[in-house]
Amino acid sequence: MNTVLCSTSDIPDPGSKAFQLEHNNEILDIFVIHKDGEFHVFINSCPHTGVNLEWQEDQFLDAEQSFIQCASHGALFEIATGHCIHGPCAGDRLTPINIEIIDNTIILLI
Ligand code: FES
Repeated sequence: MNTVLCSTSDIPDPGSKAFQLEHNNEILDIFVIHKDGEFHVFINSCPHTGVNLEWQEDQFLDAEQSFIQCASHGALFEIATGHCIHGPCAGDRLTPINIEIIDNTIILLI
């Protein structure tokens, strides 16, 4: 089933935003990164300990806005792939969610 998430204009470029939604009777914590005109969506769970990644509300990017950064121990993840390239979970990855953009709306393919 596809799920409408939000409008593409809801997230600045570069920028990020967290969402909680109900899916299969469970609460799904996810976040969206908007960078260089592209959108990437991941489960909001660090592969190191499973905690949420943001350091402030809706803040998932590092200071240079080049990587996703976990607030707990500083792991860095590639925006396009979710692969961890630095930190305690290097070599692991965030769980991506496939999306489609239709009429400026982000649709989750879940
Ligand atoms: S919990 Fe994310 S780096 Fe440790």
